Amino acid sequence: MSLPSPSIDATTDAGENVVPADGDRCPDTGLGRLSHQMAWKLFSQASGGSALTHLGEEGVSAILLQAKSRHQDPRTLSRYAKPGIEAVAALTAEFDRGRRQTPAAPAAIAADAQGDVSASVSRGRMGSVSKRTPFAGGDQTYLREVQYGDGSRLDVRSALHQRYLTSPVAFPDFEAGLIDWQPDLTVLECGTGTGRFWDNTCAPRSVSITLTDLSPGMVAEATGRASGNGFHHVQGQECDVQALPYEDATFDLAIANHMLYHVPDPDRALLELARVLRPNGVLLAATNGSGHMREINDAITEVFGSHGEGLADVFGIDTGEARLREHFRSITWHAYDNDLVVDSPTAAIDYGLSFPPGEAATDAQADAFAAAITRRFVDGILRIRTRSGAFVCTGTRQQPEVAWRR
Ligand SMILES: C[S@@+](CC[C@H](N)C(=O)[O-])C[C@H]1O[C@@H](n2cnc3c(N)ncnc32)[C@H](O)[C@@H]1O
Repeated sequence: MSLPSPSIDATTDAGENVVPADGDRCPDTGLGRLSHQMAWKLFSQASGGSALTHLGEEGVSAILLQAKSRHQDPRTLSRYAKPGIEAVAALTAEFDRGRRQTPAAPAAIAADAQGDVSASVSRGRMGSVSKRTPFAGGDQTYLREVQYGDGSRLDVRSALHQRYLTSPVAFPDFEAGLIDWQPDLTVLECGTGTGRFWDNTCAPRSVSITLTDLSPGMVAEATGRASGNGFHHVQGQECDVQALPYEDATFDLAIANHMLYHVPDPDRALLELARVLRPNGVLLAATNGSGHMREINDAITEVFGSHGEGLADVFGIDTGEARLREHFRSITWHAYDNDLVVDSPTAAIDYGLSFPPGEAATDAQADAFAAAITRRFVDGILRIRTRSGAFVCTGTRQQPEVAWRR
């Protein structure tokens, strides 16, 4: 961190100029050495001083402290990172598995389902609480009614993947190929979206499928698509994965593809998914790791700046595995090897403008984003790296006895 030059602001609290004694002058620069009091004053102005100390005592995350203080090196924040009594209690709770897994009362679940943004927080290290961005689980109303009110925005993103994939196998077949299908399996899919998984050619058409989503528009699209693909037993239900309206041990296979990173409380969602699975049931959960679609995300950051907690921070490969370990004994990650080789900027531009912050771009920002994407093409080609795949999880852990279970 660089302090302001003392020659700019070398005044006392009373506003008088400070005239340093000769012995207190630097022989090279001629500037006066700072008194402790003045150094502290300048430091406080530059860093937020006592305000930072209070935030540190409240357990605010190091990232937020760093942003507020503009410290370059997180190590210099250590003096602020002393948690107070409440932060210690929160920290202890964070690492206490029993307490962390105790679900909130149903009323709180209902509040989340109604899109109560204030409930949409994530707990980071030191018990700190950070707000989710609307896209990363911060605003369920936005997700249900705007982003996923219908499949149009998701279709824009799927189109880029489908058109420019380099893998010989499309994602639904890659993923469905991980399952040992039986003709009479009962399957629950949460956050089904447009039902693209059911384009797979592996699953027997006789399986019983329940397709659910927060958005009724998506449920309608997905059930139509699965039926259209020849599946005989398809039903749909609008519901929140954090409060599933099904009995314990109902399904053989639960699917949660590219959706747990949209959920305010992914741990509660996993508790629910584990609950409705039969003891020998399987959870299939696709997600993306950090660095997924980096070339597009870099262009987004270039134009719109840093946009807060990303999807992979909520439920990516590493963060997802850590969460899954709390609920399943066996977890295997299967990577889908598939960079995209794009030969026209249009689909990549549309992709980046299909979700926040690009979704709300002004005309000038949209133009700047189009230029940022186009600049990344070399010899007419943009190679976009992907980091995608699916977890296959078995062996649900014994859950604590809790009163709210149906
Ligand atoms: C990125 S789409 C994924 C769709 C599909 N699974 C796929 O992989 O193509 C995320 C879906 O999750 C749904 N969703 C978001 N939050 C949810 C929640 N709390 N419960 C159920 N579905 C949710 C959205 O409405 C959206 O359809």
